[in-house]
Amino acid sequence: MAQDIKNQILAGKIPEHIAMIMDGNGRWAQEKGMDRIFGHHQGVETVRRMVEACSELGVKYLTLYAFSTENWARPIHEVNALMELLVSTLRAEVEKLNKNNVRLHTIGRTHDLPGKCQDELDEAIAQTQANTGLNLVLALSYSSKWDIANAAKKLAEAVEAKEISPGDIDEEKFRTQLSTCNFPEVELLIRTSGENRISNFLLWELAYAELYFTKTHWPDFNEEGLHKAIHDFQNRERRFGKTSEQIKNDQ
Ligand code: IPE
Ligand code: IPE
Ligand code: MG
Repeated sequence: MAQDIKNQILAGKIPEHIAMIMDGNGRWAQEKGMDRIFGHHQGVETVRRMVEACSELGVKYLTLYAFSTENWARPIHEVNALMELLVSTLRAEVEKLNKNNVRLHTIGRTHDLPGKCQDELDEAIAQTQANTGLNLVLALSYSSKWDIANAAKKLAEAVEAKEISPGDIDEEKFRTQLSTCNFPEVELLIRTSGENRISNFLLWELAYAELYFTKTHWPDFNEEGLHKAIHDFQNRERRFGKTSEQIKNDQ
């Protein structure tokens, strides 16, 4: 059955860009009577699995929501544990990323991260920059509202410097100022843990993405779950405002 669904989805259109809200680590651990931090450690295993599974399917971009600007408000020991986990994971995984031809990118206010994290990220990004397989984008200290406001600020500065006029600003121009401007459209968003919300993630970029919510907590999410999500995606009709008849005629 697991192989069936994989073969089925490989015969269809694999989304070029998948984004994931990796949610439910804390509750997963607490349900087992463990500390939330244990859930985050276990969550790294799922990241590993998703990177491999997406590479195998030929997904070109995988954007993972790893830490939001709102997450800074968590208890300090949890924030510190997450930052340490980021450093140790990057250190341990960079070789494997290279082996799997994965290129690392980040989006978000990464300048707000501890120096150690920034250094480790810079190193991993530099070491993987020639890779041509999966692009792995980590959203760190990320806020989509911040990214959008920042884009508006950059355009206002360009107007003030007389590099552009207000009339030049359209959707395409605006898009080029977002931190995701070099990545293709997000086609599929997956959120684990049963929450049906976006939590300040990729608000602009998700405008026409297909949203998929699963009750599974992130540490329990696996290849089969990913395949199911893609299968669901492939069976949707993406109409982009047109009628079903138009879409069928276009095909
Ligand atoms: C997602 O799991 C990881 C981060 C937000 C860093 P959570 O830590 O949000 O887990 P829950 O939602 O509290 O269970
Ligand atoms: C979203 O999860 C952020 C990440 C997965 C990094 P949260 O657990 O922070 O989201 P809310 O608070 O439930 O909306
Ligand atoms: Mg959560």
